[in-house]
Amino acid sequence: MAEPVTRRLPTLLMEACDMRRSINRSHLTLALCVVALVGCTDTRDRASQKTASMPALALVNDVCSLCHGLTGESVSPLFPKLAGQQKDYLKQQLTDFKNHTRMDKASTQYMWGFTHLTESQITELADYYSKQPAMQAEAETPDARGELIFRHGVPESGIAQCSACHGAEGRGHGQTPRVAGQHAAYMVRQIQVFQQADLRERGDLTSQIAHTLSDADAEAVAHYMARLGP
Ligand code: HEC
Ligand code: HEC
Repeated sequence: MAEPVTRRLPTLLMEACDMRRSINRSHLTLALCVVALVGCTDTRDRASQKTASMPALALVNDVCSLCHGLTGESVSPLFPKLAGQQKDYLKQQLTDFKNHTRMDKASTQYMWGFTHLTESQITELADYYSKQPAMQAEAETPDARGELIFRHGVPESGIAQCSACHGAEGRGHGQTPRVAGQHAAYMVRQIQVFQQADLRERGDLTSQIAHTLSDADAEAVAHYMARLGP
């Protein structure tokens, strides 16, 4: 990136975020904020320092909503939905980003800046998103193979059924995430992350289950889970 642009990024970020208030979350503004947040470590550090004193709801409104949507019903599969996600799971993940122990590429690029979140901010953020209307089912084509894996696993490869932990409706529980209605592309990426060693330190259970899942089966089961839910 050319130096003058890099130097202008902090200003761009501020302008983009101000502009956002007047034109209300246009895609252009979102793109500018995202580029500014992730494209420049300096900006990211400044942005995260600024967040340390912000009330959780202001954070949701001014920061998190840029990528995850105001109620956590994100539109882009790059950004996971948080709407109605399990509170304990959200708390755990925010702590893992903060401690830099969830370390796949997208986490490092987008979520590692939030090291200044306090424990009470993390609790309030988790509380807020867990109370939003649950992720809406995606319009995916019905997938019989996906349903079979979700409900019965792949016994010949030693893969347990996903519903055993994620629940018959995919709602999750405690530190096991809701998967019903989550973006399929995001879930496929996470299954690949679990298949590589130690990128998500709490991923042991799913790693053991997912490590022999073929790419085609990962796609099938992710598309099936995305169709679940309201
Ligand atoms: C610049 C875009 C961006 C912003 C701003 C952002 N996130 Fe994220 N967030 C992401 C991406 C991308 C991921 C997925 C990381 C991955 O694939 O590992 C993510 C993942 C998450 C996850 C994990 C979800 C899951 O299902 O495991 C949580 C929780 C989360 N973000 C909460 C927040 C909160 C709270 C804020 C505001 C303080 C926030 N994010 C701000 C881009 C963003
Ligand atoms: C033994 C319990 C268990 C089983 C069985 C299980 N999972 Fe999981 N899964 C978990 C836990 C716990 C997590 C959260 C891991 C973490 O905190 O990093 C998780 C996380 C995930 C995620 C990431 C969600 C997100 O928002 O980032 C996906 C996708 C997933 N599992 C898919 C599957 C699929 C597909 C199957 C079946 C083939 C499956 N899981 C079977 C316990 C399980």
